[in-house]
Amino acid sequence: MKNYVQISNIIKKFSKVITVQGDKSISIRWALMASQAVGKSKAYNLLKSEDVDSTLEALKKLGIKVLKNKKYCEIVGKGLNGFDFKNNTIINAGNSGTLARLVLGLLSSSNKSIIIKGDKSLSKRDFSRIIKPLNMFGVKIKSNKNKLPVILKGTNYLRPIYFEEQKGSAQVKSCIMLASLNTPGKTIIKCVNSRDHTERLFKYLKIPIVIKKLSETHKLIKIQGKKQYNSFNYNIPGDISSAAFFIVLTALSANSKIIIKNVNVNKTRTGIIDILKKMNVKIQVKNNKLINNELVGDIYVKSTNSLKAINCNSEINSRAIDEFPLIFLLCAKAKGISFFKKIGELRHKESDRLKVCSNFLKNLGVKTIENKESLKIYGNPNLKIKKKFNIKNFMQDHRIFMMSCIAALTLGGVWKINDKNSIKTSFPNFILTLKKMGAKIK
Ligand code: S3P
Repeated sequence: MKNYVQISNIIKKFSKVITVQGDKSISIRWALMASQAVGKSKAYNLLKSEDVDSTLEALKKLGIKVLKNKKYCEIVGKGLNGFDFKNNTIINAGNSGTLARLVLGLLSSSNKSIIIKGDKSLSKRDFSRIIKPLNMFGVKIKSNKNKLPVILKGTNYLRPIYFEEQKGSAQVKSCIMLASLNTPGKTIIKCVNSRDHTERLFKYLKIPIVIKKLSETHKLIKIQGKKQYNSFNYNIPGDISSAAFFIVLTALSANSKIIIKNVNVNKTRTGIIDILKKMNVKIQVKNNKLINNELVGDIYVKSTNSLKAINCNSEINSRAIDEFPLIFLLCAKAKGISFFKKIGELRHKESDRLKVCSNFLKNLGVKTIENKESLKIYGNPNLKIKKKFNIKNFMQDHRIFMMSCIAALTLGGVWKINDKNSIKTSFPNFILTLKKMGAKIK
């Protein structure tokens, strides 16, 4: 099957109610945490995607029973450190940084060697950020200059650590939290705020955790390790990072509206909503309810023809970290100059998203100034495209592929967008959902 899409029509006016697939971060965390529980856990609406499949495959290799049927996924945990695998087992994390980093945390208490590898994109990403704290726990790690593949040898004698996490990385924080699960004593993390799904799961499972707000940007997490917990059933909410494509599609389309139901609207993930409100997008969240200690709601969006540029407060960055490609696209159509600072972390994603997005906008004829840590975008509300585009060489980054489709469906032009298969990572139903909205895609 061909691995590209062709788009040469702007989407027509629409009014739709949709849902998006389950949240990727929460799906991966549910599976990893269920593997350490005592007994059978079930998840409903678990994301069916390659990153989650890699997680389930990894758990199977670690001796954990995983059963999947149409209704739910079941994992049979054997308690803390209940993994059972042969020395030098190889785990392939595929494209998933979350899996690779979090599973290394979980494996820190097993005294066999394990090798973690990943695809081309993941093998370019930095692992020093988790190697440092894991070394402090007493774990031995050999790596390829801080990149994958890494060989980890855990220990039965983990020491609790005090660590200052300064990047606002939920993966680093969660890796340490998972290592602390089987560590005697108190592990303490002082961290810059980032998505808090792991903290919420710990609380939900009654794992001894104390969280203290230190300031608007920092908090302190204390975890008392070695507490067994029971199996648990869980409903995975829709992924706001997937909903974001339809939010921006609606904002940029004429006379259109959308309701996206049952989306995770945890405050640590809704930066895109706050940014879009500031840019004049008509967006609201209704029907909030707390399900399994995660906030879930319906997102209402209407199209906008008076987009304003934004000088983005960097404190919001980690709350919108995966949505910046879409936010940058919106800025290209906004009145005025938008500015984003302290966004260097975007260079450490599935591709260097700062560079890829800046070049993408330049190709559309939008002026950008890219610096190491910042991006300036000179918006043009009358931006219309008549050219031919061939989008390629973006490290098969799923979010760049999907953002390109939204650009093509709202700006005009004739587009060939390569690496369609990348959507399997996080949102396999993306094209199907677009077609249901009336998008013409070949
Ligand atoms: C994730 C955290 C973020 C995010 C990634 C998923 C997670 O990465 O970009 O897509 O599930 O913890 P960082 O922790 O590197 O910021």
